[in-house]
Amino acid sequence: MTMKNPLEERPNTRMKQKGFLTMLKAPLPLILILADLSVSIASASDAYPTIPGTGDCLRTDGLVPVRREVYGNGRIIDITHRITPEMPSFERLGQILWLAHSMKNGSSFNFSLMKLPAHTGTHVDAPGHYFDQYFDAGFDVDTLDLEVLNGPALLIDVPRDKNITAEVMESLKIPRGVRRVLFRTLNTDRGLMYKNFFDTSFVGFKEDGAKWLVKNTDIKLVGIDYLSIAAFDDDISSHLALLESREIIVVEGLKLDDVPTGLYNVHCLPLRFPGAEGSPIRCILME
Ligand SMILES: *[C@@H]1O[C@H](CO)[C@@H](O)[C@H](O)[C@H]1NC(C)=O
Ligand SMILES: *[C@@H]1O[C@H](CO)[C@@H](O)[C@H](O)[C@H]1NC(C)=O
Ligand SMILES: *[C@@H]1O[C@H](CO)[C@@H](O)[C@H](O)[C@H]1NC(C)=O
Repeated sequence: MTMKNPLEERPNTRMKQKGFLTMLKAPLPLILILADLSVSIASASDAYPTIPGTGDCLRTDGLVPVRREVYGNGRIIDITHRITPEMPSFERLGQILWLAHSMKNGSSFNFSLMKLPAHTGTHVDAPGHYFDQYFDAGFDVDTLDLEVLNGPALLIDVPRDKNITAEVMESLKIPRGVRRVLFRTLNTDRGLMYKNFFDTSFVGFKEDGAKWLVKNTDIKLVGIDYLSIAAFDDDISSHLALLESREIIVVEGLKLDDVPTGLYNVHCLPLRFPGAEGSPIRCILME
């Protein structure tokens, strides 16, 4: 399969040239993690004067780091959103990266700290997210089943004029035996993950849709293309329906732009973080 490179083609893709240039104007510490030693994109400023002998021999003029959505001619498709301070979030992100040690400040290395809500960007929910008893009992992201998070998955489009109700679920005719489904919705068409605010009009599961999935399908991994699996008005009831059995894993905020529907192998790996009821996750699709 050949894939268009969304970086070149899509006007609203974050990291196209213009977006990247805008980022360069962001506070210096925020962007430094993006540059490695050989491709430093930062230039000296009054705030961060170059320390003589640290890096001025490495010429990086004209070197631009490559940022990709697709690897190996489409063999690997990245369905994870980049984490940026501007991305939509339940809680305002603000500064998420700090240089704790900086070469420009005399350290022999750059070393950043990060601070993020556990449910930032593309992320996973553990049962403890909506069940206090499960939280206390330790059902955190470290307990999620990697077998469920990795394996054959269907990427499907859902009708654009509705939230995901029982009726919609039934109409999708997902065969029994399908264990992983990624739902692409109007959220992708509207580019909601590329806006800089949390839009409550996103599409998600209505309570009856979530209950229908639990009762009538074998789906154990449910993915969606905005920050919540549940429609805003059914936030609690849909999460409760999906998370109650502790057998279904919910992945939210997937980047499904320009990916053909069909059968893939999905690979999703949360951080191994005891006590966390959510975690940013890296998800890819493979042919
Ligand atoms: C981080 O390290 C690179 C590579 O030496 C250097 O060019 C850059 O100025 C450093 N950044 C800061 C803020 O110290
Ligand atoms: C650099 O050092 C100065 C003086 O100690 C300090 O005020 C400043 O916050 C430091 N900046 C960084 C990025 O470490
Ligand atoms: C989905 O539900 C939300 C409220 O939870 C609503 O704002 C939105 O318009 C609905 N979307 C569609 C396509 O019906």
